[in-house]
Amino acid sequence: MDKLVIRGGKRLEGTIPVSGAKNAALTLIPCALLTEEPMTLRNLPRLADIDGFQHLMGQFGVSVSIQGQRSEDFGRVVTYEASRMTSTVAPYDLVRKMRASILVLGPMLARAGEATVSMPGGCAIGNRPIDLHLKALEAFGATIELAQGYVRAIAPDGGLPGGEFDFPVVSVGATENALMAAVLANGTSRLFNAAREPEIVDLCNLLVAMGAEIEGIGTSDLIIHGAKRLNGATYKVMPDRIEAGSYACAAAITGGEVRLEGAKAGDMAATNHALRNIGVEVEEDAKGITVRADGPLRPANLTTAPYPGLATDMQAQLMALLCKAQGTSVLKETIFENRYMHVPELGRMGANITTEGRTAIVTGVDELHGAEVMATDLRASMSLVIAGLAAEGETTVRRLYHLDRGYERLEEKLQLVGADIERIGDG
Ligand code: UD1
Repeated sequence: MDKLVIRGGKRLEGTIPVSGAKNAALTLIPCALLTEEPMTLRNLPRLADIDGFQHLMGQFGVSVSIQGQRSEDFGRVVTYEASRMTSTVAPYDLVRKMRASILVLGPMLARAGEATVSMPGGCAIGNRPIDLHLKALEAFGATIELAQGYVRAIAPDGGLPGGEFDFPVVSVGATENALMAAVLANGTSRLFNAAREPEIVDLCNLLVAMGAEIEGIGTSDLIIHGAKRLNGATYKVMPDRIEAGSYACAAAITGGEVRLEGAKAGDMAATNHALRNIGVEVEEDAKGITVRADGPLRPANLTTAPYPGLATDMQAQLMALLCKAQGTSVLKETIFENRYMHVPELGRMGANITTEGRTAIVTGVDELHGAEVMATDLRASMSLVIAGLAAEGETTVRRLYHLDRGYERLEEKLQLVGADIERIGDG
């Protein structure tokens, strides 16, 4: 297995291009199941999770063609065509590797009248149930059966009637599944307390481009007027706000100045607000953001929350940054119950962090030092890279498959701004 070796202490300076958003891509791809016509996505990041999803689409008989890509470019253009679906089953083998596979349930049910998806297993960042996905589909008229580790959703003859669902907890994935089912329902559906993350807006925009009628886009109350059929579309995936935020933390912890080309400031207001509180300058313009940290880092009190609050996907990276702040910070994780697994690893690098339940107390230290570390999830792994960039000596990060799931050519992007980082193969 590959590992990353980072020799810390280099000030990052230059420009990093921001890739297409992984979490948006993972909900845009299954939209191909909603139409017989080709759907083309531009700016798809080249990531293990996206490859996994292409594979899953192939399982349903969807043709997937990748157009003219040069190895030096970031992103790619992919066309999906689901003119005929040969299967409505998402098997365990594919789903267990990628939780987001559950996002085929809604669109496949709406298009084919039934869908069978293996239950996603437990996940490193908490229990992560799918009850709300299922309840929303039931509210739209589906019958749900659970057997032998699979969820089977069946629509009545003549298709899903549509209906209303009020989410008791804000869920990104369940909102996405519900939206993708409602657009092909016979009637009008309403979602209350829906997630309003920018990735949900991206999904709505693609669905509208495909001919769907959705009111309230960007708000927590959505009205969806079902259509008989949807057409194909060509659509550009939004920039990855979490990738951009991660590199902003990397720049800041090295006292550097980095331009994040293509970042959309409007989607990352909470992250940028947190960075400014920590003493990092963030300049926003129409084409990106520039992050500069030339003074001391200040401690901050941060709490994660559904959008427009601070993204839970930024918690680990901001925590790494706060390890070098002058004073004591308090972080509260309100979305997932077990998302502090980077804490012991950061501790091995000299960080001073204690946790109690969902609260973490981070007391800044003068020096972090290099160590051999590994993490159990994607953003946790990134926090170790960030700490490694500022640490004295050499840090080795193992289990790179986590990073490869969500950061397009991470080491190349960091090399672009002067980091001393290399990927070393095991053989
Ligand atoms: C998505 C993102 C993930 C991000 C998370 C929160 C993708 C592929 N993943 O995950 O990176 O960290 O949003 O912003 O887009 N819940 C239930 N029942 C359900 C579903 C969720 O109780 O049926 C709970 C979860 O346990 C969690 C909370 O709702 O406490 C939010 O989870 P959710 O927004 O659904 O996260 P995901 O869509 O899985």
